Amino acid sequence: MKKIPLIMDCDPGLDDAVAILLALASLDEINLLGITTVVGNCPIEQTEQNARRICELAGRPDMKVYRGCPRSFFDFGFRSSFTDYVGSDIHGETGLGGCKLPPPTLPLQSQNAVNYFIETLLNSPTKITIAASGCLTNLACAFIMEPRIKEKIEKLVIMGGSIGIGNITPAAEFNFYTDPQAAYVVFTSGVPIVMIGLDTTRKTQTSEKWLAEIEALGSPVSQAVIDMLSYYHRPDAFLEVGVSGGVLHDPNIIAYLIKPELYKVREAYVEIDISSTVLAGRSTVDWHGKLGRKPTATVVNEVDVKGFFALLTERLQRYTAYKKA
Ligand code: RIB
Ligand code: CA
Repeated sequence: MKKIPLIMDCDPGLDDAVAILLALASLDEINLLGITTVVGNCPIEQTEQNARRICELAGRPDMKVYRGCPRSFFDFGFRSSFTDYVGSDIHGETGLGGCKLPPPTLPLQSQNAVNYFIETLLNSPTKITIAASGCLTNLACAFIMEPRIKEKIEKLVIMGGSIGIGNITPAAEFNFYTDPQAAYVVFTSGVPIVMIGLDTTRKTQTSEKWLAEIEALGSPVSQAVIDMLSYYHRPDAFLEVGVSGGVLHDPNIIAYLIKPELYKVREAYVEIDISSTVLAGRSTVDWHGKLGRKPTATVVNEVDVKGFFALLTERLQRYTAYKKA
């Protein structure tokens, strides 16, 4: 398999952090060029520091991490009246649950994430794949500022949206809800999109049994993963509606890139609602082609859950275990 040149755009956040660890443990398949961060699960100050913490934890102090947009296009507060929780309710005040990693020494790049996208894509001799696991504000800004970069994107694999109900509101999934206009710009950009929504990711929930398997790996990384993900299993955990564990939404992007055979997909027309109503951020997926419009995304609706966790465990096992005393 040819190595995939990849940029991750994310808002770490517990599941984003696991996605970064999965990508960095998959060096045969993925050449991670850089990590850009955006507001979402927590403010940008935390998402960029968390990305740097996770890269250091993974033994990659060389990784380039960029700070992106600190807010969505329009956030006049009307949307916050539709929901009763925010990202930090699920990911904790630091965005990494109970994981206490020291402040990062890995430097933050001085270039803004949006300019990094534009410069890197315009100058790249090959097309680049982008994994987006936060709101799409950075990408939408880059597409508007420099449309020529669209032809340099191999594909944009997005964790976001849903065919069915949302998680932050009945209509919308958190990443698209956080910036509906940005999602609209991206889904009307013409860039090849793979959309991995809640219908798929809700199925990859942590269990205490799986966490025990990870704990047994006995490495600083596995311990940090336990400290992060056991946050979902504490007695007063604030869980998404309809789930009983921590939903590992974002690692599905990396698993899809490494083992696409774990997933079932369908080409479909997708429209993002940018109204100022309870539908704000809704992704309407024309799953049965009723509208007769050209499909605008490859929409994922099924995952081999066993295969997903087997891959994740095998890759986390690649991190060096504590030296036996
Ligand atoms: O709705 C789930 C998504 O929102 C995940 O990417 C999670 O990290 C949050 O960003
Ligand atoms: Ca995320």
